[in-house]
Amino acid sequence: MKKLMAANWKMYKLQGEAATTAADLAARLAGKLPADREVLLIPPYTALCGVAGVIAQAAGFALGAQNFYPSKQGAFTGEIAPEMLTDAGCRYALAGHSERRHILGEDDAMVGRKVAFGLTSGLSMILCVGEKVEERQAGELEAVLERQLTAGLAEVPDDVAPEALAVAYEPVWAIGTGLTAGPEEVAGAHAAVRGFLVRRFGVVGEKIRILYGGSVKPGNAGQILGIDNVDGVLVGGASLDAESFAAIVTA
Ligand code: 13P
Repeated sequence: MKKLMAANWKMYKLQGEAATTAADLAARLAGKLPADREVLLIPPYTALCGVAGVIAQAAGFALGAQNFYPSKQGAFTGEIAPEMLTDAGCRYALAGHSERRHILGEDDAMVGRKVAFGLTSGLSMILCVGEKVEERQAGELEAVLERQLTAGLAEVPDDVAPEALAVAYEPVWAIGTGLTAGPEEVAGAHAAVRGFLVRRFGVVGEKIRILYGGSVKPGNAGQILGIDNVDGVLVGGASLDAESFAAIVTA
């Protein structure tokens, strides 16, 4: 499976800025996107349709959403349904990003509902997991990952298609801080996630992609992508600029 090179634009970029960045990126990568890589743009909701139009003809590009509410439709003021996202051109969605867990108060059970509902709605789901610094210091890394993965994947069918599910390991202390987990820390956490996936899904678990996220930059992307069980990256700050993200995609 191709390495997934994902740009999470969080709550940045107006419609015009998003379309311009997407077009710049598509132009930079035209004919240069490595055959083993897929680019995923995850803009804010208001920019989804515009970016969908821009990347429609760009080979190897896909669109994703940062979040949704796990229901087909209904009286959920301020929320968005998976079907609205697929209608806008999304193929992927995130669930359980650390900012949603720790700023918006999303719990493990809600994250699990989103992963399962997104899959049945036809979205490929990226479950985000990762420990806080105090959890790592207390030696709780594996326990935190086990808890988040168990709940996040609780309702996922055993025979899930491997391309429909990915896990993003994003240590909370490395997000937006400039601190990147070192190669051993990344390798250890990704091995723990892989072990869980194989126990949970058997051979399918060997194929499910595991992305790393947390202060990925052009200067460290190549090394990170070379670590065992790193099948892509989920990039925040360094994905906002087309030149910087293009350098990461081709690292
Ligand atoms: P940064 O790349 O800005 O650290 O953000 C990582 C992230 O949260 C991607 O989802």
